[in-house]
Amino acid sequence: MGLRKERVKLIMGTMRGKIAVVTGGLSGIGKACSLAFAQQQCTVVILDIQDEKAEETIKHCREAGGDAVYRNCNLLEYENIKSAFQFIEGTYGRLDYAINNAGFGFPPKPMDESTYEEVRTLYGINVQAYSMCMIHELRMMKEVGFGRIVNIASGTGLIANKGYSMYSAAKHAVVGMTKAAALDYAKDNITVNAIAPGTIETELVASLKFQAPEAYEQAKAANPSGRFGQPWEIARVALFLCEADSSFINGAIIPVDSGGTAGK
Ligand SMILES: NC(=O)c1ccc[n+]([C@@H]2O[C@H](COP(=O)([O-])OP(=O)(O)OC[C@H]3O[C@@H](n4cnc5c(N)ncnc54)[C@H](O)[C@@H]3O)[C@@H](O)[C@H]2O)c1
Repeated sequence: MGLRKERVKLIMGTMRGKIAVVTGGLSGIGKACSLAFAQQQCTVVILDIQDEKAEETIKHCREAGGDAVYRNCNLLEYENIKSAFQFIEGTYGRLDYAINNAGFGFPPKPMDESTYEEVRTLYGINVQAYSMCMIHELRMMKEVGFGRIVNIASGTGLIANKGYSMYSAAKHAVVGMTKAAALDYAKDNITVNAIAPGTIETELVASLKFQAPEAYEQAKAANPSGRFGQPWEIARVALFLCEADSSFINGAIIPVDSGGTAGK
């Protein structure tokens, strides 16, 4: 058996000791992903900008049985992305799993009321940063002959929502790059999939409960299940998409929204 095949066999076993990168891994869905991979005894490299949240998340990851390293990395700056991946390459020499998650939208409004700065920032974080991270991730994974990439898209990347022109376009772009990259790297033992979450009760959504109770209840009722999703419900799917058992799932966009997009 060639060296490369032996290496692949070695890393196809348990997740223990594997290296995972989670962008935006200090909050919401990203934090749940950091913890989920730490529970599998992975080393999680968290790229985020909220320094004040790092210590607590690292502590939780270690308590969960894995390890975590935080890198302050403003994903809107390419030099930051480049040096973060140089750090991963230099420290671990490989990357097994990547959860591209850091993203956001702006409060809904008609497209003609948007500004250049909003367009630049929105595509910068949701499209350009996802693309540049994926380029680095794929290069490292291709070298070893193994990798799992999970992009956090959105239900808004599958259907349109009023007031979200650019966010919807950006998340459709994530869906497109996921599918195309899946085709390009299938023979390299790398899978690229995306999750399209419905409304998930992250800190921002939870804060509405007290600040705008009516909007909170309305949003909750809009889901077929009558509830919001929880961050761990996304993290569990991300984890599955990195496990050996899911190796034939590639180029899939998985809605995790309790049917939110099914009837649309
Ligand atoms: N929460 C939802 O209802 C929902 C629904 C569908 C899709 N999503 C998508 O899921 C992903 C995570 O959303 P969330 O609700 O958990 O968000 P969140 O705000 O709770 O977490 C996002 C994380 O990204 C980090 N981040 C933001 N800008 C950054 C930058 N420039 N550089 C580095 N890190 C940065 C933040 O510091 C934060 O830790 C996003 O891509 C979002 O579009 C969320």
